[in-house]
Amino acid sequence: MTSSFNSVDNEKQIHDLQVILEITNLMTLETNLDALLKTTMEGATRMLNADVSSIFLCDYENNEFYSRFIQQSAVKEIRFPLDKGIAGSVVRTKKPINIEDAYNDPRFNPEVDKETRYHTKSILCMPLITREGKIIGVTQVLNKKTGVFTEYDEKILGVFSHQAATAIENTLLHEENESLFKSVIRTLATTIDARDPVTAGHSQRVALYASQLAKACKLDPKNLNELDVASFLHDIGKIGVRDDVLLKEGRLNTEEYKKIQEHAAYTSEILEQIHFSRDLKDVPFLASSHHERLDGNGYPYGLKGNALPLSARILAIVDVYDALTAYDRPYKKAMPVGQALSILEQGRGTQFDTKLVDIFIKEKCYNIERRQHQRISVDLEFGIVFPSNDDQEAYLKKYNTPTLQGIKRRKPRPFSRQIPANTISVSRISAKAECSLKQGISSPLIIS
Ligand SMILES: [Fe+2]
Repeated sequence: MTSSFNSVDNEKQIHDLQVILEITNLMTLETNLDALLKTTMEGATRMLNADVSSIFLCDYENNEFYSRFIQQSAVKEIRFPLDKGIAGSVVRTKKPINIEDAYNDPRFNPEVDKETRYHTKSILCMPLITREGKIIGVTQVLNKKTGVFTEYDEKILGVFSHQAATAIENTLLHEENESLFKSVIRTLATTIDARDPVTAGHSQRVALYASQLAKACKLDPKNLNELDVASFLHDIGKIGVRDDVLLKEGRLNTEEYKKIQEHAAYTSEILEQIHFSRDLKDVPFLASSHHERLDGNGYPYGLKGNALPLSARILAIVDVYDALTAYDRPYKKAMPVGQALSILEQGRGTQFDTKLVDIFIKEKCYNIERRQHQRISVDLEFGIVFPSNDDQEAYLKKYNTPTLQGIKRRKPRPFSRQIPANTISVSRISAKAECSLKQGISSPLIIS
């Protein structure tokens, strides 16, 4: 190889190190993996005066490389076996590979070129090794614009890839934590709703309505996320309400009504115990404010007007809307949408924020994908609707496996008219099981 580190003049070395620092700085600020990979690839391309770069990460579970982003190409994800190609060799040996002409090298895997419609000539491929020495993928810089990749390029890309590996590892951990947090929130919401079978799916639907209304109000991402978590958890205080009150059918007396109202304060008490991140610090307050009214006659705080943040006002509207329209009690029919909307309109300026009610109606924020979230019968907790009986049989054969342990088949009860034919009822469906069902059947409809 030509030009070693020493033969490159000092000015260029200083400049390149400055670029590395600049890009590393950008990398440490990224918490989104796709954005981080983009920054990293653009940085590598720029530093090495190359045409394009790509990053392949190792998916050890499936023994595959995957790339979630490729420059100047529409391809979003590419996968190939972990032992294939130049990348495979780099992972095996943990050593970089620098080749002048890819198609003359037997290790080169032309499949990726075929998929991306790109013609690779020179390649510099560097392992991405974390501080703990774990190899998490490779950086590939392709087609040097002037000549071939040098020894100096190898050194520069080596330093750069080391920084990149740490940043990527951190972002992967961050994403894992995020999805863990989301799954815990959703599980809590399901637990709350399961406590009172007549409110099944309520928290989930409230979160969907809230998100639609918040987006229509152009709420910023931080507040949007906070509202989402608050929506899922707003009724968690129901855990503190006794069964004989919470589950009572028919009218509640004054005392019982008071007991039910206490759930809002319990929500605050319970959520205050959780250590929320800075971005979510208002969740306990927002969640517990869902029964507040604009005129100050709500509970538990009796806050008035501007003292109620926008997110709390959103939550108040969508909570009432779902309570009115949900089909949840054998003795109470779901209220038609039009009627529920006019109740919201009647509450403008007293119970609800006038502008928000108007946006909710005008922008049709009440249109959520109800088929997935509508409770269709008090007898049926979850139903899976199959396109035909044949599909149902095929499903039962194929998916009656440990992967679907989350689903318990239940003897169908006499269904109400609303339930389509070809429905089997299940008592519980986990997110993972729901996912495998969606992949497994042409168009299953999952109703909860
Ligand atoms: Fe509530």
